[in-house]
Amino acid sequence: MYRNFRIVPNIIFGRGAFNQLGDILKPKRSSGGSMVFIMDRVFSGKPLESRLPVAEHDLVIPVNVDDEPKTKYVDALTAQVKAHTAKACGVIGIGGGSSMDLAKAVALMLTNPGSSVDYQGWDLIRNPAVYHVAVPTLAGTGAEISRTAVLTGPEKKLGLNSDYTLFDQVLLDPELTAGAPKNQWFYTGMDCYIHDIESLHGTYLNAFSKAYGEKSLELCRQVFLEEHEDSADRLMMASYFGGMSIAYSQVGACHALSYGLSFVLGTHHGVGCCIAFNVLDDIYPEGVREFREMMTRQEVPLPQQLTRGLSDQDMDTMVKVALGLEPLWENCLGKDWRNHMTPARARELFSRM
Ligand SMILES: NC(=O)c1ccc[n+]([C@@H]2O[C@H](COP(=O)([O-])OP(=O)(O)OC[C@H]3O[C@@H](n4cnc5c(N)ncnc54)[C@H](O)[C@@H]3O)[C@@H](O)[C@H]2O)c1
Ligand SMILES: [Fe+2]
Repeated sequence: MYRNFRIVPNIIFGRGAFNQLGDILKPKRSSGGSMVFIMDRVFSGKPLESRLPVAEHDLVIPVNVDDEPKTKYVDALTAQVKAHTAKACGVIGIGGGSSMDLAKAVALMLTNPGSSVDYQGWDLIRNPAVYHVAVPTLAGTGAEISRTAVLTGPEKKLGLNSDYTLFDQVLLDPELTAGAPKNQWFYTGMDCYIHDIESLHGTYLNAFSKAYGEKSLELCRQVFLEEHEDSADRLMMASYFGGMSIAYSQVGACHALSYGLSFVLGTHHGVGCCIAFNVLDDIYPEGVREFREMMTRQEVPLPQQLTRGLSDQDMDTMVKVALGLEPLWENCLGKDWRNHMTPARARELFSRM
């Protein structure tokens, strides 16, 4: 069975494209209601905030992404929007993957009853979301074009995966990534590089994913191993293409292991992927070698010894979370992956992170 998947219908790309946000939103205001801007609070009081096309009755919510998005936070934000307006005509997510996922989740929860916990899974969402727009300020996750909003709930870290999750509009303005701290820029960029490696070396690979993955990888090499004036533009397109590549294939071992780290230690996605990738020489030898070359060239450090001193129970949980992601392992190692990635081997990998 081939998956028939939806993609984002409207994309605007270019330096200064953010200035057109007001015009893009205008037709959506015709029936009244409030626009809700879910903005990474790192921009509070910064020039970007003053450039938001805020009209009367709109709501700007600066969001805290110190922790990756939780279901509880999504429910609280949804309640805050409902208390402000009976009718939200749009939700605009401005920030990295965390802020974009919060915006997706709130747009969905405004039209679907109950708690976001109820919708963690695949195609559980029943009603179309409120019109929602992504404005990335970091490039790499592919959250701008994916059909999931990754949330940590009381029991699991699992996204709201549905066709309704996809943004209605994406605004890609490379200028907005300018202020990102270097390490964060690198870790989030490596998320994209790893999407490409895992997609291109997976058993699910097909011509569709290969076309996007190869282009994305080429762009990542230009950004992290060469010097280009427009490297921010290139990384934004790499993120988009990397996301398109995994949309029709899958990620692999590195993402599975990073989910274990994140679940037990709260490690953020980009840096967690880098830490996990660094021990995967046996699985992605060329990719890991090149990743280290990029890290050296960019002079970015990698946190070490995260799992040292962890209890047996925590190590077991990590292994369990990682090995529970069956499609990722099947993509990486084939249908008989269990013969190759035993709990003991996964544990040994974690012990080196
Ligand atoms: N939905 C998806 O398909 C998908 C895919 C991968 C990851 N994710 C999620 O994305 C999140 C990771 O996203 P991320 O790596 O983009 O980082 P992020 O959104 O978590 O932000 C990381 C840090 O960078 C700061 N920041 C962002 N843009 C900035 C800018 N321009 N200037 C200064 N600081 C800036 C933020 O305030 C934050 O401190 C995780 O929650 C992960 O689960 C989602
Ligand atoms: Fe990722």
